Amino acid sequence: MSTFTITEKLKEVASKENITRFYDEATEDYEFWSKDLNMHFGYYTPFKTSVFRRDSMLNEMNKQVYNRLQVSNQNSLIADLGCGIGGTIRYGLKKYPLLHIIGVTLSSFQVHEGNKKLKDKKGLILEEDYTSTSFKTNSINGAYAIESFCHSGHSKEAFQEAYRILKPNSKLVIADAFLKKDEEQLCLGSNYCYEQLCKGWSLEGLGNIHSVKNRLEQIGFKNIIVEDISYRVAPSVLHVPFAITGFILKKLFRKEFLKPQSWKNLKGSLFALLSGLHINNFGYYLITAEKKQF
Ligand SMILES: C[S@@+](CC[C@H](N)C(=O)[O-])C[C@H]1O[C@@H](n2cnc3c(N)ncnc32)[C@H](O)[C@@H]1O
Repeated sequence: MSTFTITEKLKEVASKENITRFYDEATEDYEFWSKDLNMHFGYYTPFKTSVFRRDSMLNEMNKQVYNRLQVSNQNSLIADLGCGIGGTIRYGLKKYPLLHIIGVTLSSFQVHEGNKKLKDKKGLILEEDYTSTSFKTNSINGAYAIESFCHSGHSKEAFQEAYRILKPNSKLVIADAFLKKDEEQLCLGSNYCYEQLCKGWSLEGLGNIHSVKNRLEQIGFKNIIVEDISYRVAPSVLHVPFAITGFILKKLFRKEFLKPQSWKNLKGSLFALLSGLHINNFGYYLITAEKKQF
């Protein structure tokens, strides 16, 4: 019997090459999920967003993240760590026209296509690893990572790099799914869903929310606020079966083949939904952490 833990097995699944291949090939599919090209789940606010209009919830997640950054609109520089095709960057620039926003991603497809959409705007996407960026130390007024740090298992290296680039007193906001316990403590069903989710979406793993908070503290972050927003995110997660069915039907209708990475994406989406049903083991959180003043 293999003595490897899930995390060790998933390191291979979430190699840089696999993540890059996944997003180079599957990013186009997200147009079906979000017209605004948001590659994340949404945030439901009663009477403000509609459970039937997915993009209203996805954009509300962008809003919630920017609200927590609390940056001054005036010429601040924001970093989007794992920016996809720039959906959140475009939202930020529309809402706060004086901001400058730079995103990093591993996918050259996302860099190319995302920058086309940012032409003549104060945004830019770079092909860089968020664990070792080219940003200067203490140079950024605010940083966020939406469903991107899970690709490196919410690793210390990712948090450390965010800490390095932030100016003192500025904030890091993370929106992502986390485990509520260690992966060894997951029940059989959760364990299966977790492994399939990570394999489908090329994730190294989800951090245990309690350990993640400690990790951020050890690095030096202060005033760490952890909010469980699982119930706000649930309505958009429930869109997954409808989105998957619609996507497959569209492909069949057009007599188009599903690419290997599209299958992986569908598998990841389905197991995200199934994992979400195990509410004792998985949760979706917004974390806000501030860099200490020297
Ligand atoms: C699910 S997408 C989320 C994109 C975006 N944050 C959004 O919400 O629309 C994950 C993103 O993380 C990026 N990513 C994963 N690992 C990365 C790494 N080590 N360095 C930079 N980007 C990374 C991927 O390239 C992809 O753009």
